Amino acid sequence: MKEHRIDAVIANGENAAAGFGITPDQVRQLQEAGVDVITSGNHIWQQRDIIPLLKSSDHLLRPANYPPRVPGKGTTVLQTPLGPLGVINLQGRKSLPDTDCPFRVGREAVEAMRKKTSMIIIDFHAEHTEEKEALALYFNGSVSAVLGTHTHVQTMDERILPGGTAYITDVGMTGPEESVIGSIPALSVERQLTQMPLKSEVADHSSVVNAVVVEIDAASGKALSITRINKHLHV
Ligand SMILES: [Fe+2]
Repeated sequence: MKEHRIDAVIANGENAAAGFGITPDQVRQLQEAGVDVITSGNHIWQQRDIIPLLKSSDHLLRPANYPPRVPGKGTTVLQTPLGPLGVINLQGRKSLPDTDCPFRVGREAVEAMRKKTSMIIIDFHAEHTEEKEALALYFNGSVSAVLGTHTHVQTMDERILPGGTAYITDVGMTGPEESVIGSIPALSVERQLTQMPLKSEVADHSSVVNAVVVEIDAASGKALSITRINKHLHV
């Protein structure tokens, strides 16, 4: 955080519990490590004891385009040294649960958020590149950044779109490097070979830290830069 002079940290934590959801204790650990807002996605429901915290916390989000009766909220506004920062969590519909339209729900959320701040970051938790690029272009100029998550594999397409919105198709993951999206390779290979529902287990190898640093002009909300981080920790 010091190296990049970070004012706010957003982390997607939906796989913190060995790949399946996040526990209240892990939320606390991430907050103590400096994470301001934890976003999530399709796995957020898998640790049932997280549900009370999803209902009560302002800084633990689930995708906004789940049905309204689903516990939790999909947007928040965080106070930072540069002013309020809005965070919106959305989920794609390709190869994922059949949620409401992220474009329409996202537009409503962005319009409500822009009454409070022009600094807005969307975590778009989605599988398909086309859906992710389309959503980024849809919000180009009206949010500071659209940052993709979910695939666990970092893409190298980070850029500032013409309207001043920073974009990357997928931020990647922080997790075991020699793995199949974080899981023990042999189990993943066996699942592909047999098509049986074998449970994934987190691999135990050297770690990779994937992230992006987005610099935002506080007055306009436009992104000035997006820098990809891909650090290999040999532990
Ligand atoms: Fe996911």
